[in-house]
Amino acid sequence: MTRLTLKLTTSFVAPGLVALGLIAAAPAVQAEDVEVLHWWTSGGEAAALNVLKEDLEGKGVGWQDMPVAGGGGEQAMTVLRARVTAGNAPTAVQMLGFDIQDWAQEGALADLNTVAAEENWDTVVPAALQRFAKHDGKWISAPVNVHSTNWVWANKKIFDELGIAQPTSWDELIAALTKIKDAGYVAVAHGGQAWQDATIFDAVVMSVGGPEFYKAAFIDLDPDTLGGAQMVEAFERMETLRGFVDENFSGRDWNLASAMVIEGKAGVQFMGDWAKGEFLKAGLTPDQDFLCFRFPGTQDTVTFNSDQFAMFSVGEERRDAQVKLASSIMAPSFQSAFNVVKGSVPARTDVSDADFDACGKKGMAELAAASSSGTLFGSMAHGHAAPAAVKNAVYDVVTAHFNGEFDAATAAEELVNAVDGAQ
Ligand code: BGC
Repeated sequence: MTRLTLKLTTSFVAPGLVALGLIAAAPAVQAEDVEVLHWWTSGGEAAALNVLKEDLEGKGVGWQDMPVAGGGGEQAMTVLRARVTAGNAPTAVQMLGFDIQDWAQEGALADLNTVAAEENWDTVVPAALQRFAKHDGKWISAPVNVHSTNWVWANKKIFDELGIAQPTSWDELIAALTKIKDAGYVAVAHGGQAWQDATIFDAVVMSVGGPEFYKAAFIDLDPDTLGGAQMVEAFERMETLRGFVDENFSGRDWNLASAMVIEGKAGVQFMGDWAKGEFLKAGLTPDQDFLCFRFPGTQDTVTFNSDQFAMFSVGEERRDAQVKLASSIMAPSFQSAFNVVKGSVPARTDVSDADFDACGKKGMAELAAASSSGTLFGSMAHGHAAPAAVKNAVYDVVTAHFNGEFDAATAAEELVNAVDGAQ
C-alpha cells in the first residue's frame, strides 16, 4: 500500500509554479487508499489526525497524507484549487463552511446521500452543520467536529500567583492583563497572522455588542453596523489588546503562541479550542494547569466553526474507500475519540460527554445551550459567517488596523468598503 507524506510549508505553496510542482509530484492513488488534504500540522492536530488514520487502517483503508501547513487553512485552499484545476482532486479535503458550498456549487463534490441515509445523518447532525454539509438536498461532506472561537486559554499558575480570578467583563479582562504584564510576563500570547487577528476580532465584536450586533455585522453584513460606533469601539478594543502582545508577535504560528502559555511565559491566548489540543499534547490538565473560559463578555454565546471533510468526485474505483472514510468520520465512537484529542466537540448530538475533560464538557453544554437559545453564530474568521471573499476582506482590514495602518474610525469605514467590494 502506498504511504506518502508530502510536507508542504507556507513558503512552499505561495508561488503558483511550486503548486504546479506539487501536482506533478502527486502519486497515483490506490483504489483502497484515501488521499486527504488538510492543515492539521501542529502537535495536537497531528495527534488527533492519527486517531482517524488508525481507525481507517483498522478497516483496511490506506492513508495518503497531504498536509499543507497554515492555521485557518488559507494555504490549503490555494493548493486545493491548483490540484482541482489540474484534474487531480484529492479524495477528501478538510474544509470550512462556505468553502464547502462554493465547491459544491462548482459541481466538484461527490454525493454521499446513500451512506447518509443508511446511517441517519439527517437526524443526528445539527442543522447549523447541515447548512454547510448539504447542497441542493445532497450530503457532500462529513462533519468531524465543532470548534468555537471565543475562548481564552490561561496559565493557571500565573493566575494563582497574581491572585487573578477568571475575568467576566472587558474591564476585568484588562485589569487581569495589566497585572500579568506588570509582573513581567507576556500578557497575551499572539501570532500576528491575519486569521489569528481575525479570530480575536470575532470575540471582540461579540463582546462589544452581543449577538444582535455580531449577527447584523458578520452574518447580515449590514453596512450601518459595519461602520457604526460599536464597530469603532471594537477596533479600539483591538488597539488595547495590541498593547498586551510581545514585540515578536508578528508572523508567529498559533501553536507557538499556545506554547508560550503552556511554558509559563505568557498569561493567556485568545484562540479557538484547537489550542486545547496543544495543552493536552504537552501533558497539561484543565483546571489544574490551565483554564478555559469564554472571552469576557461573550459567556452566553458561541461563535463556531466545523471542520468537515468535503468529498470530491473521484473515479468509481476510489468510491468505496471514500465512503468508508465518510462513514468512519461519522461513527459516534470515532467522534468521541477524535474530539477528545482535538479540543473540539462532536458534530453529532447523540455522543456522550463521558470521555471529555472539563473544557470539553463545558464546550458541549455551551454549544447545546447556545444552539437552543439562538446565540450560536458562525465564525467570521473561520469561514462560517460569510463566503471567502468577504472573510478575506475582513482579514485585510482587521490586520492592517492591528498593525497600526489606520485608526479605529478609519478601520470601520474601511470595513464597510472592503465588505461591499467583496460581494
Ligand atoms: C480549524 C482547526 C484548526 C485551526 C488551526 C481552524 O480553522 O477549524 O481544526 O486546528 O484552524 O489550524
